[in-house]
Amino acid sequence: MTYSITKAEQELQSRREGLNLRWYPRYHLAARAGWMNDPNGLIWFDGWYHAFYQHHPYSTQWGPMHWGHARSKDLVHWEHLPVALAPEGPEDKDGCFSGSAVVDGDTLALIYTGHKFHGDPDDEANLYQVQCLATSRDGIHFVRQGMIVDTPPGLHHFRDPKVWREGESWYMGCRARDGETGQGRVYRSANLREWQDMGVLAVAEKEMGYMWECPDFFMLNGKRVLMFSPQGMAAEGFKNRNLFQSGYLLGEWQPGQPFVREGEFVEMDRGHDFYAPQSFLTPDGRRIVIGWLDMWESSQPEQEDGWAGMLSLPRELTLSADNRLQMRPARESEGLRGAWFPWPVSTLNNQQMTLLERCDAMEVILQWDCANSSAEQYGMSLGEGLRVYVDAQMQRLVLERNYPQYGLCGTRSVALNLDNTLSLRLFFDSSSVEVFVNEGDACLSSRIYPEAGRREINLFGWVAQRYYSKPEPGSWSDDFQFIRMVSLQ
Ligand code: FRU
Repeated sequence: MTYSITKAEQELQSRREGLNLRWYPRYHLAARAGWMNDPNGLIWFDGWYHAFYQHHPYSTQWGPMHWGHARSKDLVHWEHLPVALAPEGPEDKDGCFSGSAVVDGDTLALIYTGHKFHGDPDDEANLYQVQCLATSRDGIHFVRQGMIVDTPPGLHHFRDPKVWREGESWYMGCRARDGETGQGRVYRSANLREWQDMGVLAVAEKEMGYMWECPDFFMLNGKRVLMFSPQGMAAEGFKNRNLFQSGYLLGEWQPGQPFVREGEFVEMDRGHDFYAPQSFLTPDGRRIVIGWLDMWESSQPEQEDGWAGMLSLPRELTLSADNRLQMRPARESEGLRGAWFPWPVSTLNNQQMTLLERCDAMEVILQWDCANSSAEQYGMSLGEGLRVYVDAQMQRLVLERNYPQYGLCGTRSVALNLDNTLSLRLFFDSSSVEVFVNEGDACLSSRIYPEAGRREINLFGWVAQRYYSKPEPGSWSDDFQFIRMVSLQ
C-alpha cells in the first residue's frame, strides 16, 4: 500500500463516524479515529500550541506511522488539523517515527525518524532508521526535505531526534541501541540540514536498559535534565513496575563533552500508563511536559470502539530545592473548570459515602488529615474498578484498578509521610485518571474503563481491626478536611 495525507484524511473521515465515544476523552487529546502513541513535535508557533503524535489512521493497532496533528490556544481545548506527515518514502517508507519541532525564523521545522527496511521486515538486520526534516510556513502543510542524518555504521535502532538551540548552534539528541546497550548520541548543525556527529552523549549502564527511547534534554533551574524512556529496566520493589519506564537523570553537560550525571534514574509518573513524554517551552518560559497515557503491550479496551491511545494533561515541570523534578497540572487546566461542588468537612467512621452519582470529566481537589487518622485504608473510588487510597500500614498512596474483564488489574503506589496533611488533585476523564500528590511531589496516571452507569464517586475509610492509636485512643475517624469537586468542560 502507498500512503498519502489525502488517503489518511479520507480514512479518518469515514472511521470517525463509526466511533463509540463511551471512553473517548472529553478534555484530553486523542486521535480522531485509529491509533495514537507518542506525542511529537510539541511547540508554540505563530500564536498556537501544536501537538503532533504517532498515528495510524487505518486501524486501532500500531502500524505504518503517520504524524497526527492538533493545535490549541490554551493547551486544553484542541482543534484537529490534517495529518502532517505520511510515510510516503523512500526515506520513511515504513513509518514517520517520533521526533521534535523547532521554530527557525518564520518556519516550523519537524525533525523526525524515517523508519525503513531494506528487504524483509522480519529481519532486524534490514532495519534502518534515519533522521528527516519537514518544514512549514503556515504550521499546517509541510514540505518534506528528506534525510538529514543517516544511520551510523553498525547501528539499526537510531531514532527519536530532539532538537534544541544553544548559542549559535542547533543540537540534536538521538537514541541508539548498540547491541544490548542503550546510548544517546549528539549532532550539531548551523542550518538544520547539515549535521556534524559529536559522538556519544551518554551510555546506559547495565541496569539502565537496552534502548532509551524519546530523549529530551533541557535546563531547569541551572541543571541539565536528560529525560528519556528506557526499555529493559528490571522491576525492583515498587519501582519500574511497567513494561517500560519514563524518567530522568540530572547532571552537567558542555557541548563536545559527555553528560556527567548526578544521582540515579528517577521515574516521572508512578501510575500504570505514562510513556514517551516530551517537553516544550511556553512563551512565558514554563517547561511543560506531555506524555502518552498508555503503555506498550497493555490492553486497550477502546480499540473495539474505533480508537486507541490518548495524551496526558500538560504538566509544568519544576525542580525542587533538593533537586527533584516536580510535575503539576499546567495552570491552563484551570480554564476547564465549570461548576463547583463543594463538600463539607467530613469524617468517616468505618464507612463509605457517595459524593457524586456520575463523574465523567471532573477535577477533585482534596486534603486528608493523615496525622489524625486511625483508619487503615481510606480514600476515593470510582465505580467498581478504581480506588485511590492511603494504606496506613504500608504508608503509601495506592492507585488500584480492577478491570478483570480487560486484563487490567493491579496497584501502583508511592511512599507517604503520614505525619502530614495529604493534598491531592485528581483529574478524571472518560477513561483516565491522573493523580497529583502534594503539589508536584508525585504523580500517578492510569487508564480506567468504568462500565456504563458505574461512574459514581465514593469516599471510604475502613478500620479492619480496632487498635490503639495516638493521640486519641480508639478513634476510628478519618478526617477528610477539605474537598472540592469541579466539573471540567
Ligand atoms: C516510543 C516509540 C519510539 C518510536 C515510536 C514508534 O513509544 O517506540 O521510539 O519512534 O514509538 O511509533
